[in-house]
Amino acid sequence: MNVENSSDLARRIEALKREKNAVILAHYYTTPEVQAVADFLGDSLALSIQAQQCDARIILFAGVHFMAETAKVLCPDRKVLIPCPEAGCSLAESCDAGDFAAFKARYPGYKVVSYVNTTVGVKALTDICCTSSNALKVVESLPADQPLIFGPDRNLGSYIQKLTGRQNMVLWNGACHVHEEFSLEKLLALKRQHPAAKVVVHPECRAYIVEVADYVGSTAGILDYCGRSDAREFIVVTEAGILAEMRKRYPEKVFIPAPPDDETCACNNCRYMKMVTLENIRACLENESPEILLDEEVRRAAERSIRNMIAIR
Ligand code: 13P
Ligand code: SF4
Repeated sequence: MNVENSSDLARRIEALKREKNAVILAHYYTTPEVQAVADFLGDSLALSIQAQQCDARIILFAGVHFMAETAKVLCPDRKVLIPCPEAGCSLAESCDAGDFAAFKARYPGYKVVSYVNTTVGVKALTDICCTSSNALKVVESLPADQPLIFGPDRNLGSYIQKLTGRQNMVLWNGACHVHEEFSLEKLLALKRQHPAAKVVVHPECRAYIVEVADYVGSTAGILDYCGRSDAREFIVVTEAGILAEMRKRYPEKVFIPAPPDDETCACNNCRYMKMVTLENIRACLENESPEILLDEEVRRAAERSIRNMIAIR
């Protein structure tokens, strides 16, 4: 796409937002062009909270499917649009609601904590959701002797298990195709080249990557840490979309993306987040479609688990 085209598209999108009383919520992993037309940019927790606080008629979610679904669960009276409904998430896809119900039935008396990267059907089977920002707080809010099921991300689950020392936690075996791919060998080589750099890591990464981190947190947590740290250089071990916001906020600092194992695959990019484009945002606003529509009974059950999370933050 040339620069002229993308600025024309951005102008058209701004006009449609005004005409239709619409807001665009975008995740940090979308492309810089998409981030530039967003009214709110954030991590998955901030965007869920923002969805319920804004009073626009239309919420267009520039992110993956589970994020738009979460907005619809919280705002059933609003039209929630998803520009690319095929934009899934490897974690949400690893956890089918029917299989999860069968898994849950094997552990009577266990409470279910689910990462928000799940379908609405899995959220409906969940006692309390969490995001990577608040997973520790959510798990610590439950009595230490309460057995837990944690899904679907085994890496986030084992990280929280290690922090809390909880033994009574069973994990669903899911993972993210982006965060599982970082190479320890290449990360250590990068650290040797940049000895003063701090290593910032998303908790969806494997345990051996998390172990070498100076800071572990959600996308919003990583951004805050880079701002308050005295360091000038950071090795960033999460999806590469976040680099645009890092460089915008802290132009005096240097951000070095950690390479995935196979450097020819660009797999430190989430292929789902990159399916959201200015073209499909424009078409979605023009047509007011595709729209997220949910079964009311499932929506209500899912809402309880998300509201339980928001009450804790
Ligand atoms: P955040 O909770 O940091 O926004 O992460 C969401 C996500 O999908 C990470 O891969
Ligand atoms: Fe899902 Fe991974 Fe993409 Fe995040 S980066 S949306 S966890 S596939």
